[in-house]
Amino acid sequence: MSDRIRLLLGDRPVEISGIDPTTTVLDWLRGPCGRTGTKEGCAEGDCGACTVVLAEPDGSGGLAYRSVNSCIQFVGTLDGVQLLTVEDLAKDGTPHPVQRAMVAAHASQCGFCTPGFVMTLYHLYRTYDGPLPPPRETLDRALGGNLCRCTGYRPILEAAERMFDGRTAGEDVTATVAALEGLARDKGLAYEDRFFAPRTLAELAGVLKVHPGARILSGGTDLGLEVTKAHRTLDRVVYLGRVAELRTVAKTQTHLELGAAVTWSEAADPLVAIWPALDELFARFAGPPVRNAGTVGGNIANASPIGDSPPVFVALDADVELAGPAGMRRLKLADFFLDYRKTALAPGEVVARVRIPLPAPGLKLAAYKVSKRLDDDISAVCGVFALALDGGRIADARIAFGGMAAIPKRAASCEAALVGKDWTLATAQAAAAALASDFAPIGDMRASAAYRAKVAANLLVRFWHESTGSGIATRAVSYG
Ligand SMILES: Cc1cc2nc3c(=O)[nH]c(=O)nc-3n(C[C@H](O)[C@H](O)[C@H](O)COP(=O)(O)OP(=O)(O)OC[C@H]3O[C@@H](n4cnc5c(N)ncnc54)[C@H](O)[C@@H]3O)c2cc1C
Ligand code: FES
Ligand code: FES
Repeated sequence: MSDRIRLLLGDRPVEISGIDPTTTVLDWLRGPCGRTGTKEGCAEGDCGACTVVLAEPDGSGGLAYRSVNSCIQFVGTLDGVQLLTVEDLAKDGTPHPVQRAMVAAHASQCGFCTPGFVMTLYHLYRTYDGPLPPPRETLDRALGGNLCRCTGYRPILEAAERMFDGRTAGEDVTATVAALEGLARDKGLAYEDRFFAPRTLAELAGVLKVHPGARILSGGTDLGLEVTKAHRTLDRVVYLGRVAELRTVAKTQTHLELGAAVTWSEAADPLVAIWPALDELFARFAGPPVRNAGTVGGNIANASPIGDSPPVFVALDADVELAGPAGMRRLKLADFFLDYRKTALAPGEVVARVRIPLPAPGLKLAAYKVSKRLDDDISAVCGVFALALDGGRIADARIAFGGMAAIPKRAASCEAALVGKDWTLATAQAAAAALASDFAPIGDMRASAAYRAKVAANLLVRFWHESTGSGIATRAVSYG
């Protein structure tokens, strides 16, 4: 017998059955639910018009909130969560402080983007616990996944500051937590033999044994687009977001270990705490609603040549652990990528974990992303430079690029031109020239081949200037 998908829609318990589990949350809201406040702009996670907020018990009596793009999330992922849309904010006819601030700051014109902005701001309102008003950088980063074509962002930023006026202590969420705990399952969801949400690795193995051809779903920020943009039907889907073992973050004596189903929002802080140089790259990885859903394992398994984390993890010499019918195996991430979108994953295997060795003293690291837009854009080139310096001498070099080849790839000639040399401008320039024998990039809508080659070389020279504090200005725009 099929399970039903059970959730709280606002405060109301709802059960879903009889619909395709890969129906997007947006279509379900606007169709069967008649909740048309949530808008569709792009249907690919880019504009934020469809932003909704999900809440789940945080394990200590409260709720953990996530804003996500409802246009690329499937209804099957809603099992066990509270879904909040713009219709849930006003209480007894009184607008929420976020809505009042948007009105007071004249932060809406045509209004199409407004519900999405309101839900992004509501997420910030619920989760922000820093000084008031929040620093501009915090607001810029929070709004990085929402586009407005007509109002302009100044009034929206003003609303973001004003909404905190008179904010009182958090709402009492005891009843919601209890209701969500009541939805918890002893065994993973199995919906109409088409959508499975196992809770443990053992359950996952059981499902994949019966359905070896099922598509793996993590955050859906790539897979969702196969449905909304490529109009593919996914016959059977196995969702990893509930597999406890894949949701862990651990720092051991030697490694930072990130479970495959850890989202980018969850991974960024532990990564940046150890490697502060990664802050800008991960702040510019998509926008917040995508980072709140998209996962570490999804970025790796997707094997896009322009994914941002693979060059980082390859340059940091990470391992990847794969879980499959024969148990767990481990390999170097650099050996995981075989060819354009081809990986070492065997049938029935999933990415389970990435393990990044902790840095040795003397590591100089930089991760540079070049894209057409500063926020919420995919890389044309992503260059990651990791040098082990012994005094002024380069004892080891690991240089990896995205966007320069069919796979995320190390730059062997460039590395050879660095190792054993003093870290001088002349060395950096010679190693930058050596990149020409490492890569023959393609041209596409993101960048021409010549631009990619030039910018990759320039990034290495920028790294020299920034890592040595040469005092030369290296950026037209600084990312706050
Ligand atoms: C608007 C937007 C902006 C984006 N910006 C960026 C960006 O700046 N940088 C960037 O790198 N990416 C970006 N992405 C792409 C995407 O967000 C990332 O690749 C993300 O990490 C994918 O993770 P996911 O969990 O959503 O994967 P999913 O969409 O769930 O899955 C992606 C693929 O990997 C497979 N898969 C997922 N998890 C596993 C696993 N554990 N084991 C085996 N197979 C698995 C799926 O079957 C699918 O084929 C963007 C996407 C959108 C929509
Ligand atoms: S409709 Fe544009 S992000 Fe969802
Ligand atoms: S108010 Fe028109 S798009 Fe933002």
